[in-house]
Amino acid sequence: AIDPNFDTNREKVGEEKLDELRSSANQTAFGDGVAVWGPVDPPKKLGIHGTHVAVDYDICLADGACLENCPVDVFTWVDTPGHPESEVKVEPTNEDQCIDCMLCVDICPVDAIDVDAS
Ligand code: SF4
Ligand code: F3S
Repeated sequence: AIDPNFDTNREKVGEEKLDELRSSANQTAFGDGVAVWGPVDPPKKLGIHGTHVAVDYDICLADGACLENCPVDVFTWVDTPGHPESEVKVEPTNEDQCIDCMLCVDICPVDAIDVDAS
């Protein structure tokens, strides 16, 4: 399961490293303004994406229930070719729209999502 204390236990990947990742093969997974918490080593290690709504890319296996059921469409698909769990992941692109309903946290079969509702 995702570590709910990722924001203290992990380091946020800096802009310089993100620029590097955006220009590499996994650019779609690092293409927007969502924070990434390392370690990252594409294509096999992609870190945790998001802060208020956080998805552990190294656990997500592309079930899709979160994206299909989120009432405010927080998630979008991104391509992650070469990742051992799945070749697409959900990015919390619209995490600022989250209404803390906790549906995604409850529905994910592998507990890849943490929502900081406090
Ligand atoms: Fe969407 Fe609810 Fe999950 Fe927020 S907690 S991302 S509103 S399903
Ligand atoms: Fe991934 Fe879980 Fe959503 S496996 S696609 S985070 S339901």
